[in-house]
Amino acid sequence: NGPKIAIAGITGAVGQEMLKVLTERNFPYSDIKMLASARSAGRKYTFEGAEYTVEELTEKSFEGCDIALFSAGGSISKKYAPVAAAAGCTVVDNSSAFRMTEGVPLVVPEINPQAMEGMKAGKGGIIANPNCSTIIALMAVTPLHRLAKVKRMVVSTYQAASGAGQAAMEELEQQTREVLEGQPVTMNIFPFQYAFNLFSHNSPMTDNGYNEEEMKLVKETRKIWGETDIAITGTCIRVPVMRAHAESINLEFENDISEEEALKALEAFPGVSIINDRANNRFPTPLDASTKDDVYVGRVRRDISRGDNKGLDLFVCGDQIKKGAALNAVQIAELLL
Ligand code: A2P
Repeated sequence: NGPKIAIAGITGAVGQEMLKVLTERNFPYSDIKMLASARSAGRKYTFEGAEYTVEELTEKSFEGCDIALFSAGGSISKKYAPVAAAAGCTVVDNSSAFRMTEGVPLVVPEINPQAMEGMKAGKGGIIANPNCSTIIALMAVTPLHRLAKVKRMVVSTYQAASGAGQAAMEELEQQTREVLEGQPVTMNIFPFQYAFNLFSHNSPMTDNGYNEEEMKLVKETRKIWGETDIAITGTCIRVPVMRAHAESINLEFENDISEEEALKALEAFPGVSIINDRANNRFPTPLDASTKDDVYVGRVRRDISRGDNKGLDLFVCGDQIKKGAALNAVQIAELLL
C-alpha cells in the first residue's frame, strides 16, 4: 500500500541513497520503478526483500507512477520531468533544471513547506530540490534569519566529491591510492589532481566571475526565503572529502543577536545539531556529518570586525548526499502523501 515510485538515476550516488532513506523513514510504497541509462538496463537490485530490474529511462517510464524522484542530471530532468508530470506523476527533481522556474516550488521541508501547498502524489507537477550547499547553509541560517533578519551573507564552501556524483568519489579514492603508491594520478572527472589538493568549484563560470554553484547560493536562497533584497556572496571550493560539505558563513543582521540567542534558536530548529565545544576545540567536521540526517553547526561567535551585535560567524557541516540531496527529496515526497 502506498504510491508507486519511480527513481530516475537509481545507479548513482544519490539514487542509491534515496533507497536507503526510503527504508530509514519507513516510506510507504506499492512499487518502485528503478530507472537509469541504457547502459544499466537489466542490472538487478534487491531492496527490502524484493528484486528489481533496472529499466532504461524513456518517455513511457512514468505511466501509472505517483511520485518520481529524479537524480540523473539536469539534461535528463529537462527532457523527462515534464513528461512524467504530464502523465500525472508528481516529480521531485534533484537537478538544477527547474529550480528557478517560476511556479516550480523550491523546497526545504523544515523551511518553506508552504511553497508546495496543494501538491499531491499522482497529481503531476514538479517540485525542485535546492542545491546541496544552499540546503546545508539555509538549515543553519534560517533560524537566525527568523530571529534577527539577515541583511548580508558571505559563504565560503568546502565541498565534497559526492556532489559531482559516484564517479567523482571513485576518482578521489583512486587518486589518493595512486599518490600514496607514487603513481601518476588518473584524471577523468576533474581537470585537476583532486587528492591532496583543492580547487575552485568545477561548475561553469558565469559572466560576472562567479561560478554557477556560487550563483545558485545567491538565487536559490532568495527564492526559498521569498526575499529579493538579501545581499549574498560566496566562494565555492571543492575539497578532497568524500560526502559531506563544510561551509564558513558570515552573517550581518538587521537586528541585534547574541551568541546565546543564536545557539538557542539553532538548538530548537529541527534537523540541526550543535557541536560547539570551545574548551576542547571541538566543532563540526565533515566526518561528523557523513551519513547523518542533521546539519551540524559550530564556531558560533560574534563577528569582532563589527562594533555592534549585528554580526555572527558560523561553521556548518552537512552530508551532501543526504540532507543535500536524497533526504531532502524524500522529505518533500513525504509532504506529497
Ligand atoms: P547510469 O549508471 O546508467 O549511467 P551520479 O550523479 O552518481 O553520476 O549518477 C547519475 C545517474 O544518472 C546514474 O544513475 C546514471 O545512470 C543516470 N543517467 C545518466 N545518464 C542517463 C540517461 N541518459 N538516461 C537515464 N539515466 C541516466
